[in-house]
Amino acid sequence: MQVVEAHGFKIPIVGLGTWAVRHPARIVEQAIRVGYRHIDTAQMYGNEAEVGEGVRNSGKRAEVVVTTKVQPTLLAPHDLERSVKESLARLRLDVIDLLLIHWPNPRVPLAETLGAMSKMKREGYTRAIGVSNFTVALLDEANKVSPEPVVCNQIECHPFLNQDKVIAACKRHGMAVVAYSPIARGGATGNRILEHIGVAHAKSAAQVGLRYLVQQGIVVIPRTSRIERLEENFALFDFELSEAEMQDIYKLAHPSGRIVDWTWSPKWD
Ligand SMILES: NC(=O)c1ccc[n+]([C@@H]2O[C@H](COP(=O)([O-])OP(=O)(O)OC[C@H]3O[C@@H](n4cnc5c(N)ncnc54)[C@H](OP(=O)(O)O)[C@@H]3O)[C@@H](O)[C@H]2O)c1
Repeated sequence: MQVVEAHGFKIPIVGLGTWAVRHPARIVEQAIRVGYRHIDTAQMYGNEAEVGEGVRNSGKRAEVVVTTKVQPTLLAPHDLERSVKESLARLRLDVIDLLLIHWPNPRVPLAETLGAMSKMKREGYTRAIGVSNFTVALLDEANKVSPEPVVCNQIECHPFLNQDKVIAACKRHGMAVVAYSPIARGGATGNRILEHIGVAHAKSAAQVGLRYLVQQGIVVIPRTSRIERLEENFALFDFELSEAEMQDIYKLAHPSGRIVDWTWSPKWD
């Protein structure tokens, strides 16, 4: 399995998203059987227990990178430390591999949150720390104030959304980019260009969209609740897109391509 290395931490380039997955324990176990070595969950998904069960049942725990994310209302140090211990108890794993801030919370100083996450790393609760949904300005700040290296930024990323600026900022800071909603919640299917390129390679539009990202060194975490699609979304390494095909896909991005509401903000009070 190809990996993306950031600050010495290795992230398998294809992972499984588990938000809203049906029967998560079964799907996670099956994904690992197919060859996935990276599983993405979050406190907010309410499925850490089932995800942990699937990882344990696979018998391959030591090979798998398990990511979970701290919800934005729990980023103050005391809350964060308690919630990470609770996540680990729900997962019933030895350690969290990659611990992320799920969304920034402007009410909690970033230095405090990253200080607490770094402490959790030093105390052995997680092997690495990272962020999600961070802008260029927040990435600059995070890298300035974090005692431990920030290894990734997990962001919405697929052919219909231009993320050039934030990807460039990640590169500048030596961070991996992890693409969420990488098949645009199924929206890749039916796109004329992706379908057309897919025919040339005997691949589906979803596979072309995923290949477009991994070919740029971007980690992808597609989600499916269907066993047969686990294999489809993993079969990305037996074909290569030409420079012209990459350019055609690049042109699919448009201003309203974002799926996940960027203005989303919880009630902070
Ligand atoms: N950090 C964050 O704020 C954040 C936000 C959103 C998501 N995420 C993470 O990223 C993961 C993936 O993103 P996502 O769940 O939003 O969307 P996604 O992976 O882009 O799309 C999932 C949808 O596409 C369908 N699908 C899967 N494989 C397919 C294929 N080969 N062909 C056609 N349709 C296919 C799935 O249906 P079936 O299940 O029926 O196959 C599902 O409806 C999440 O599960 C979560 O772990 C993180």
